[in-house]
Amino acid sequence: MKKRELKITYAEFATDSELKESDLELLNRARSAAERAYAPYSNFYVGAALRLKNGEIITGNNQENVAYPSGLCAERVAIYAAGARYPDSAIDTIAVTCKSKAFEVNEPLSPCGACRQAIAEYEMRHKTNIRILLAGEKGIIRMVESISDLLPFMFKAEELKKG
Ligand code: THU
Repeated sequence: MKKRELKITYAEFATDSELKESDLELLNRARSAAERAYAPYSNFYVGAALRLKNGEIITGNNQENVAYPSGLCAERVAIYAAGARYPDSAIDTIAVTCKSKAFEVNEPLSPCGACRQAIAEYEMRHKTNIRILLAGEKGIIRMVESISDLLPFMFKAEELKKG
């Protein structure tokens, strides 16, 4: 038996003012999207904004349902809208943020596993990495340059061809 270590890399920005202008614009679009979320069951409002390589910005927010699993996270609402509208354009950057009615979110949002897998699919589909900016209402902003840093050992299409 061998124990191995895996290294992930991420950046932290202390405040909005440390972000480059295009990233701040995207984060602000995600914040506006969070305001329009439909989250009557969790009261947890998530907003996502992604910039495509063609320059378009697509936003999404969580859409809940009384039959809970029928709802969808903000990231996937945005990613699938982008896939539906601009199937040939890769995603350059996605910004995700959240707020709650019950408490102040002082940590960057940590995307759920299903959304990480959806981001991974779009990296593989367009053979390009996706920058991911994660923020809460307050506090640091975290950034990774690829989903590999959020989803090590991800399930890949090659696995289907093995054997
Ligand atoms: N949610 C997202 O929109 N994105 C995530 O990455 C985590 C969770 C939503 C789903 C649900 O509407 C609410 O947050 C509480 O889980």
